[in-house]
Amino acid sequence: MDTCKIIAAGKAAAQRTVTNDDLSKIVETNDEWISSRTGISRRQITFDESTTDLAYRASVDAINKSGIDKNTIDLIIVATISPDFFMPSTASMLQYRLGLNENNVTAFDLNAACTGLIYAIQVADKFIKSGSVRRALVVGSETLSRTIDWNDRGTCVLFGDGAGALLLERSDSGIMADYTNSRGDAEMNLVLPALPLDSPFSSKLDSPPSKMTMNGGEIFKFATFAIKDTIDNLLRSSRIEIEDISLVIPHQANGRIISKVSKLTKIPLEKFYLNLSKYGNTSSASIGLALAEAMEDGLIKKGDKVLLVGFGGGLTWGGVIHEF
Ligand code: ACO
Repeated sequence: MDTCKIIAAGKAAAQRTVTNDDLSKIVETNDEWISSRTGISRRQITFDESTTDLAYRASVDAINKSGIDKNTIDLIIVATISPDFFMPSTASMLQYRLGLNENNVTAFDLNAACTGLIYAIQVADKFIKSGSVRRALVVGSETLSRTIDWNDRGTCVLFGDGAGALLLERSDSGIMADYTNSRGDAEMNLVLPALPLDSPFSSKLDSPPSKMTMNGGEIFKFATFAIKDTIDNLLRSSRIEIEDISLVIPHQANGRIISKVSKLTKIPLEKFYLNLSKYGNTSSASIGLALAEAMEDGLIKKGDKVLLVGFGGGLTWGGVIHEF
């Protein structure tokens, strides 16, 4: 019992479907541009559900699929860049919604942008291996629609709302390698501002923009580097050959990024699982949502080695190799 295993993956997508044609009524864009530059055809946008609501639905899905007693969950980590509140955390509110309020649960949110779920898996893995928790619920949940400038066609066509939830427990097989990294010097290429400095003791700053901004070209270059760097590091540390990996589940940002990585690494495109055409980029939710769907589609069998890889704001990147 020396590692930690994902025993179930749940998902939730926001209720309202927004197609590329729908967006062309809001900003100057069209289905051809969005599809060919990103691979995205539609996305799910929340009507009235919050980040906690989506996290709850995905968590219930994971718990039901696993068949475990939810009272054995000792740790809840929610990765998000679009929490309902800075305080209380999404994780604490999720604990309450799941009816675990009277239990001894460690609950906190984690921000590593679109790499959030990978960071959260890594943290949960360490908690579980240390023996201090039995089971962990690790969730990526986002309502990015509230962070988007709906007048900016360069970003508003890319994102969607959803959640992915994983249940992890101690096991003989499971996580075989993990890798995370960060580089703060390029952070302004992908920004979602917080509250401005505004106290009687600080020099007043001009109000910064409050919505997400992105330098798409720079992030595209970073993403191709980050995926390759993660795959190289994971294969090296695990001494596993890429041929032994049955599926790569990347952060679902842009199909063109994955095509580029496929050429760069010579990993066949068919090895990458993509569902971004239906959901767009759901940030920290995307890898969990994709894993849940790949499992539902029967694409992952017992003994398969799957590589999860994320990249995003911070800048942050990383991944895990997991044997199912
Ligand atoms: N519809 C129509 N035209 C558009 C749109 C749109 N939605 N958006 C931009 N354009 C125009 C631009 O204005 C520009 O016009 P111009 O030539 O007249 O100036 C032209 O299209 C080309 O713009 P580029 O930005 O060069 O387009 P590019 O081919 O680079 O694609 C994109 C832009 C899709 C954003 C790409 O750079 C990209 O995918 N980058 C990575 C983004 C990403 O992965 N972000 C998420 C990672 S981190 C996270 O998940 C939070």
